[in-house]
Amino acid sequence: MRRKNKQSSSDPVKNLVSKTDPVRFCVISGSSIFGLEDYETTERSVETAYGRVVLDIVDVHGTKIAFMSRHGKYQCHPPHQINYRANISALNQLGVQFVFATGAVGSCQPEFKPGEAVIIDDFVDFTKNRDESFFQDGCTVCHVNMTEPYCRRLQEQFTAKSKHYEQPIAGKGTYVCTEGPRFETRAEIGFYRKMGWELVGMTSVPEVLLAKEKGMCYCAVAMITNWATGMDDQPVPADFLDRISALKHRLNQIFLAIFTEDQLTQDGCSCNNSLLHL
Ligand code: HPA
Repeated sequence: MRRKNKQSSSDPVKNLVSKTDPVRFCVISGSSIFGLEDYETTERSVETAYGRVVLDIVDVHGTKIAFMSRHGKYQCHPPHQINYRANISALNQLGVQFVFATGAVGSCQPEFKPGEAVIIDDFVDFTKNRDESFFQDGCTVCHVNMTEPYCRRLQEQFTAKSKHYEQPIAGKGTYVCTEGPRFETRAEIGFYRKMGWELVGMTSVPEVLLAKEKGMCYCAVAMITNWATGMDDQPVPADFLDRISALKHRLNQIFLAIFTEDQLTQDGCSCNNSLLHL
């Protein structure tokens, strides 16, 4: 089937999907989307309290799946300037409940190698200057539970489907989120490595916790593009993002299979019940 790109109308609010026709599923990735040419794709513009977000809605055999480039579909905001609140707010307005996110990372541990996929199961936050809550501006005091930031159920579903698709997963790991846009120093990576943390990247925080604040089940799969600074004697390669395009394509196929074949429900999952209001 031919890919159709319907452009959004000039009134972005008109394009909001009503709650009676929600888009329940989303894939967030770091760069442009490919491998979806066989499906009908509609561009959508969503106006949020934090700004406007443009994303694609892909119709996979009747299941509508939002595809979002976190850096912006037309702009390219660096990691520290991504409008994370607008992105997650837009997904919430669409009715999204389940998110698979991918991101490029460096490896801080010898057992995780460039080219491999790793499920992120916890994070350490070294970001400095990001809006990381929907509750930071007003007088509502609200805390979000971070016992399990990444949805355990979606992780299990992903692991099972990866086996079915014969996609090796190197394991699970803790993600250190740095502010960027610079890479880390040798001393910083030496510290993370000694602490036993496996992965370093710049975008999972605050994306994961904002998704949690909105009650979404959010699972992140890291794609290792390089050894983190000082892990080998080579500098981070210039083509580090290109190195993972085949992997990214396979991961997308697995996410689509889960969204279209599995019966996903939030019943009994703690992700949509993680807020403590004071
Ligand atoms: N550090 C931080 N972010 C990254 C890296 C890295 O080595 N590789 C890909 N994203």
